[in-house]
Amino acid sequence: MTPPLVDLAMHHKPQGAGDRVAYGFVKALRFFADTFFAKRYGHRAVVLETVAAVPGMVGATLNHLKCLRRMCSDRGWIKTLMDEAENERMHLMTFIEVSQPTLFERFVVVAVQWVFYLFFFGLYLVSPKTAHRVVGYFEEEAVISYSHYLAEIDEGRSPNVPAPKIALDYWGLPEGSTLRDVVLVVRADEAHHRDVNHGFANELGGLPAIAIAPCPPHAALEPNWKAAA
Ligand SMILES: [Fe+2]
Ligand SMILES: [Fe+2]
Repeated sequence: MTPPLVDLAMHHKPQGAGDRVAYGFVKALRFFADTFFAKRYGHRAVVLETVAAVPGMVGATLNHLKCLRRMCSDRGWIKTLMDEAENERMHLMTFIEVSQPTLFERFVVVAVQWVFYLFFFGLYLVSPKTAHRVVGYFEEEAVISYSHYLAEIDEGRSPNVPAPKIALDYWGLPEGSTLRDVVLVVRADEAHHRDVNHGFANELGGLPAIAIAPCPPHAALEPNWKAAA
């Protein structure tokens, strides 16, 4: 399997106050993450994926409610955002097989979820454009972080352990795949989310559409009633 190519240089230059607030906010969070995790990339991935899986579900919920109120089409946004949330949750379920969070990190996850869910919900109500821009910038940072993780593996500082089974099944990776292969597909997922969210922010702000990095192929998660049948 050829590793998915990712445009690492893609960056949306902030345009207007909302973009600058979004960029400043994400850069501040990056500083905290760098200070808290340093180079513990496995732990960093587990904790941050619990946050990354929130915005898609918030955006899907609020677009769903808006479409019900206005009785209008969602133009595919709801499923797109739900897919993003699901994909981020699968990143979490994959990395939990590689790194176990400490008790303190589990406490941080619970505390951050309360604050971040409410914050993002409020932000999306006030300015969906800025909310999508925040996610676009989050994902730019995620692409950078996973590139650092790849360098850690390539330079021998993180062991290149076998890929967990959940990753083989979800992304259809061949037997014998390693953590490095997993980080490559996860990084490509993040690049896809980056472009989708910058694209949504552009659309809401009347800016031109951008090219969307393709999402690596992965299995569709089936509903409970199908799995039980
Ligand atoms: Fe992710
Ligand atoms: Fe992401």
